[in-house]
Amino acid sequence: IFLIFTAVAGHAQNYDESKVPSYILPDVLKTSSGKKVKSVKTWEKERRPEILKMFENNIYGQMPMAYDSVRRSITTEEGAAMGGKAKLKQVTIEVFKNRKSVKIDVVLFTPTKATGPVPVFLLINNRPNDNTDPTRQKKSEFWPAEMVIDSGFAIAAFHVNDLAPDNKDTYMNGVLQLYPEQLKADNGMKAIGAWAWGASRVMDYFEKDADIDAKKVIVVGHSRGGKASLWAAAEDQRFAACVTNCSGNSGAALARRQFGERISRINTTFPHWFNNNYKKFNDKENSLPVDQHMLIALIAPRPVYATNASKDLWADPKGTYLSLKNAESVYNLYKIKSQLPATPPAINVPLPNPPLGYHIREGEHNMTEFDWREFLVFAKGI
Ligand code: GCU
Repeated sequence: IFLIFTAVAGHAQNYDESKVPSYILPDVLKTSSGKKVKSVKTWEKERRPEILKMFENNIYGQMPMAYDSVRRSITTEEGAAMGGKAKLKQVTIEVFKNRKSVKIDVVLFTPTKATGPVPVFLLINNRPNDNTDPTRQKKSEFWPAEMVIDSGFAIAAFHVNDLAPDNKDTYMNGVLQLYPEQLKADNGMKAIGAWAWGASRVMDYFEKDADIDAKKVIVVGHSRGGKASLWAAAEDQRFAACVTNCSGNSGAALARRQFGERISRINTTFPHWFNNNYKKFNDKENSLPVDQHMLIALIAPRPVYATNASKDLWADPKGTYLSLKNAESVYNLYKIKSQLPATPPAINVPLPNPPLGYHIREGEHNMTEFDWREFLVFAKGI
């Protein structure tokens, strides 16, 4: 009975700020050989690649970008969607490797009033597919396409299940069929990596679509999708900016705070999200060679917007803010000044200014119109 009790207690989540252990974050600006990083050059040539490798090896897995060929077909094209204010395209991207293929269905609305290529929000959708209904019969504030179009931006989405079903028994039935060696490696790609890989394939497509300004693609994700949006922006520097909404543990929140969800818990409930090596850090946050502020730093100097919700302590709002704050030193190297104050803002007081945006919305774990309204302000500043 004692053993059972300790096992459960070991996994209990802490919601009490006074019980957050003291911790020392790995120094983002010191190489593993102990050299202080003082220039963009040393950052880009030495420290950044080293950190990226550490995230690949210990958390998200490798990101194989090579494939044999791709076939893109526009399955629907409608010039006057949304009562005329948008153009709709549905695109199927089929990627081939080793005689296997994976298909990604993309829905894309662009404003008809646009006179040239426009910036686009790309959602990695982890919620039901009808949240991004191309017919607009169902409208959802998770993907408020009309509001985004009214602001002059394009909006697109694809579903995570096209890349890797979100299930521990079937996640390998997607991108991982193309890269079977990944399944055997302890630092191999898993579901979150596969979702991020999908965002990059949509990016390849955007580079070919004349309606889209491919230099202004903002990758967006909520929660598990927000972990993937960060990873996509870290791995693929073509993304201009990243929105990570309520992404919490193994997303934007610092692991070492051990507040809310912990690594042991995420690896137990979702063993298919991160690589095998990550399991070594169950209940050993302090042994990780990285923490999540370094994931934000990998995206620098490109802007990142992180959000939380007041009733979503599971995702550690304060730990998310501290991640952003601890990434500021890398933006400083680029002489890009963060506008974030020392302490987190009050609930419903958004700070949408690039390069680092943050807000905590009143309410539940979700992505809402409130959040999107601020993403639009942020995007206008990019
Ligand atoms: C669970 C999980 C989180 C994740 C969330 C979501 O709560 O523990 O890590 O972010 O699901 O995707 O909604």
